[in-house]
Parts: sequence; structure tokens; C-alpha cells
Amino acid sequence: MDKKKAIVVKNLKKYFKNVKAVDDISFDVNYGELFALLGQNGAGKSTTIRILTNLAVPTSGHIEVAGYNVLKDPTNVRKNIGLVAEKIILYDNLTAMENIKFFGRLYGMKDTVIEENAQKFLKLFDIWNFKDMLISKMSTGMKQKINLARALVPDPQIIFLDEPTLGLDPVSTKHIRDFIVGLRGEGRTIVYTTHVLHDIELMNVDKVAIMRKGKIVSIGSLSDIKKHFKKAEIVEVETDRTLSSNEVKGKILDQDDGYMKIEVEDLNQFMKDISKLNVQIRSFKSLEPSLEDIYVEISEGNDVEEQSEMVNVKE
Ligand SMILES: Nc1ncnc2c1ncn2[C@@H]1O[C@H](COP(=O)(O)OP(=O)(O)OP(=O)(O)O)[C@@H](O)[C@H]1O
Ligand SMILES: [Mg+2]
Repeated sequence: MDKKKAIVVKNLKKYFKNVKAVDDISFDVNYGELFALLGQNGAGKSTTIRILTNLAVPTSGHIEVAGYNVLKDPTNVRKNIGLVAEKIILYDNLTAMENIKFFGRLYGMKDTVIEENAQKFLKLFDIWNFKDMLISKMSTGMKQKINLARALVPDPQIIFLDEPTLGLDPVSTKHIRDFIVGLRGEGRTIVYTTHVLHDIELMNVDKVAIMRKGKIVSIGSLSDIKKHFKKAEIVEVETDRTLSSNEVKGKILDQDDGYMKIEVEDLNQFMKDISKLNVQIRSFKSLEPSLEDIYVEISEGNDVEEQSEMVNVKE
């Protein structure tokens, strides 16, 4: 039992009849971390979250959440977690507030406390005016916000969010994204899945795991994953005169008056070479691959097939 970790997963497997939805994954999440789980449709993200939140039983493996064994001590696990599941969990024929109260009471909360917390979140998500509207009359985005409020009202320490911004417009997405970053700032632990890679980059997540066909094919901090997948260094340099191609070593990708974008094999060597030239450097930038570049590469299996092992990028 590891009381210091928010989540410990060891050799988790979930096999359905025809598919290995989760195929021997291991990872852990520290308290206070924002952990992103990425992967194409069917990669196994939601199945993993369902098992961690005690909604599905694993085929095998060891899982601890909030220091409790998920299979042996589900009650204590549930007390410590909040879940925004992939499928919105709300009753259509109840209003927003009635739903929130219903779920809050399941946590043993007093109505006054539920109402107080509900008001805080519904106002924050700009949906307080709709508290008495039936869920059946709401748009997808409105339901998603109510669903999020419902999950947060019991004030959980560990929060699982399976595509919480699905169906939200860009303004609401930003709102929720900033809000989640704020939750992490309060010391809460967050497990987050999304297909919006841009969000992951903006949220400054602590750790990313990329799943493919039930396996974790890459795990680490965003910058470590980027470093790992960096094939060649791409540099943008602005100088007081235009450099000629025989003055620098590398593949010139773009060039304009005093500007050069160049792919270099060894950044240190490039810096040494350029410092020996009679030229003034006005600006210098080393470009990183975007998460999207990496994600597409992994999802297409380029890095995975030949290695077939998890790429455990240093933490
Ligand atoms: N109850 C089930 N019975 C049979 N197969 C299932 C069941 N639930 C999930 N699967 C299968 O397990 C695999 C993983 O599904 P999962 O929902 O975990 O993927 P995901 O990564 O969340 O995908 P998405 O991005 O589309 O939400 C898929 O092949 C899916 O068809
Ligand atoms: Mg899913």
C-alpha cells in the first residue's frame, strides 16, 4: 500500500471477449499532479478510468487509489474520488439542482452544504440561471457543465475527467480548462483524458501517458516526451547579414534576408560554428515538435512497432 501516491497501477489488464482493451499497463500518479491520458479512439483510456473508479472489474492487476485497494476497499476509494465519466451521468427527468442533490446525498452530504457548493460551481461555470431546468431540455454543453459540477460538489481529492470538454464551445472549453488547472493549483490530483492536444500543451500537465491498443506506449513529462521524439534539432536564427549555405552545417529549411530555419544534427556544434563567423546573432530559437506531431507518430505506430516496449521517458 503506497499512501504517498494518489494512484498506483501495476500490470493492469482488462480483456473483453474479442479485445484486449487494457493490456498490461503500469503507472503511478503523485498527489497534486495533473496526469493526462491520451490515445486514439479505442486505445483503452475510458476502460482504464472505469476500473480506477470501481465501475469495471479488471481481468488482473493491482490498483490503489488514495492509498486504498480498489477491489478490496471500494467504499474508501469512492469517498475520495470524483468522476466525470465519458457518458454523462445525469437523470433526464430531474432538474440540474435535483441531480446534484441526488448525487451529493449519496456521498452523505447535508443539503445545505450541497446547495452551497452547487451554487459555487454553477456560478463559476456560468450556468446558475439554469439550475431549475430539466436535464432533458439542456444542450450537450450545458449538460457537460452540470455533470462537472455534480462530480465536484462532494469536494473530492482525486478527480477523474474523461473528456470533460467534449461538446463545449471554445469559450467554455477555455473556462473549464483554466478551472481544472486551478483545481491542480489547490493540490488536487487530476486524471484527464482528451483528444484536444492543444489543451494538454496549454494546461502544463505534469505527466502524459499515451495509450495505443491497450498499452502505454509513452509516458513522462511533456517536455521529456518531446525530447525523446525529437528527431533532429530545428533552429531559427536571425543575423545581421544573410548566411551562406557553406558557412553553416545542416539542412536549410527556409531562408530570407538575415533569417534562417535550419535542421542541425548537433546543436552544440552549430552554436560553436556560428560563433566563429563574423556575424551578429539577433535572435535564436530552438523549435520543439508539437504534441500533435508526436501523437500522430505514436498513434500510427512508427515508434512503437519496432520497439514494442513502452517508451518510459525519464521523469
Ligand atoms: N463493455 C465492453 N465490452 C466489449 N468491449 C469493450 C467494452 N468497453 C470497451 N470495449 C472495447 O475496449 C476498447 C477500448 O475502449 P475504450 O472505451 O477504453 O477506449 P477509449 O480510449 O476511451 O476510446 P475513445 O477515445 O473513443 O473514448 C475498444 O476496442 C472498445 O470497443
Ligand atoms: Mg473513451
